[in-house]
Amino acid sequence: MPDQPRRRSRPAQSAGFVPRTRPVVPPIHQSVTYFLDDQSYKDVQAGGLDEVWYGRFRNPTVDVAADEVARLEAAEAAFMTSSGMGAIATALLSVLRAGDRVVAATQVYGDTRDLLVRDLPAWGFDVEQVDAADLDAWRAAVAAGPTRVLYVETMANPQLELADLPALAALAHDVGALLVVDNTFATPYNVQPLTHGADLVVHSATKFLNGHSDAIAGVVAGAYDAVREVQRRVITLGTCLDPHAAYLVWRGMQTFELRLARSNATARALAAALAGVADVVDVRHPSLPGYARAEVAGRVLRSDTGGLRTGAMVSFTVEGGDERALRLMRHLEVACEATSLGGVETLVSTPFNSSHFSLTPEERRAARIDDGMVRVSCGVEPEEDLVEDFLDAVGASR
Ligand SMILES: Cc1ncc(COP(=O)(O)O)c(C=O)c1O
Repeated sequence: MPDQPRRRSRPAQSAGFVPRTRPVVPPIHQSVTYFLDDQSYKDVQAGGLDEVWYGRFRNPTVDVAADEVARLEAAEAAFMTSSGMGAIATALLSVLRAGDRVVAATQVYGDTRDLLVRDLPAWGFDVEQVDAADLDAWRAAVAAGPTRVLYVETMANPQLELADLPALAALAHDVGALLVVDNTFATPYNVQPLTHGADLVVHSATKFLNGHSDAIAGVVAGAYDAVREVQRRVITLGTCLDPHAAYLVWRGMQTFELRLARSNATARALAAALAGVADVVDVRHPSLPGYARAEVAGRVLRSDTGGLRTGAMVSFTVEGGDERALRLMRHLEVACEATSLGGVETLVSTPFNSSHFSLTPEERRAARIDDGMVRVSCGVEPEEDLVEDFLDAVGASR
C-alpha cells in the first residue's frame, strides 16, 4: 500500500492537475489568487495589470471573453466588466476628470439616463442631453462649453434611431473630446462604431453577446491605452467580471454571427408584417421603406450579400395606448413578456413600465417613447411562428 502523504498538499499541486494535452474549450479559471513568483512581484510593483495574480486585476477566462469581443468590434483591446452599467460607469470614469462636461443623447437606456442626469452631476460633472438625431443640437451643446465626452447609443433604446457616428466622432474630435458609444442594441454584427471614429464602445454583454439570458456582464472596447485606463478603473471601482459569467459570455459568442443573422432576418419579417396592420401606427426598423434614419443607415450599417444588416430589434406602437400594448403582450404564446434583450428567445416589453419606468410621462414624450410602444428583441424561433404569434396577439388585443 502506498504511503499516505504526511501533510495535506496545496490544491494545485495534486498529481495530474494540469493535463499534458490542451483543452479545446477554455477552462474556467475560478481561482481568485495565484502563486506569486519573482516575475509576478515585479508586475505588481508596476501596477499589476499584466500578470495573473489576483482576480480583480485580471483573470484568464475573463481575458478570453474580452479577446473575442475585441475581434467582433475590430478593437485593439477590450476589458470585461460586471454588467453593462458597470461598463458604462467604468468607461466614463476612466476618461472624466473633476468638473468635466458630458454631452449625451436624450434617447438612452433608463438606468444610463439616471447615471447621466442624477449621479454624474452629483459627483461634480456637468451633463447636457440632446436629441440623438439632431446634429445641430449636438453642435450647439458642444459649443456651449469645453466638452470631454459625447455619449450616444448606436441604436437608441427603444426608438431604434441610428446615431450618425461619423458626424459625432468628427464633432467630438474637433474639440478634443471623445465619443463613447453603447453598441448593445445594434451589436457589432450590424455596426462597428470604432470603424466610424468612436473612441470607446461599451456593451451590456448580458444581451446579444451572451445571447442566452443567463449571465450579467459588460465590456469596454477601444484602443489599447484607453482600455488599460478602463482596467485601472475596474480595479479601483471593483467592477470586475466573475470568471464563470465570462465563460458563459464566451460560449454565447461562439454562435454570435449565426444567431444575429437569424434574428436579423426574423426582425425584418416581423417589421414588414406589422407595418401592414392598420392599427399598428408606427413600426420602427431600419429595413422598412419609411425608416426615418435611412440615409444614416446606408452609411453606418454593415452589409453583406443580403443587403444592409438592419438589426434584431423592432419597436412598434399600437392604437389604444399602453393599456392595449399590455393586453397584446399577454396574448403572445411564442414570444416572452420579459425585460432584457438579445436572448435566443424573443423578448417583448413595454418601455414605459420596464426599461424606462423612471421617466415621467413628459420625459418619456421628450425621449419619443410613445403611448402604446412595444419593444421586441427577436430570438431564433422559426420566423413564421413568431410573425403569426404577433399578428394573432395584435388581433386579440383589439
Ligand atoms: C442599451 C443598454 N445599455 C446598457 C444596459 C445595462 O446593461 P446591464 O443590465 O448588463 O447592466 C442595458 C440594459 O438593458 C441596455 O439596454
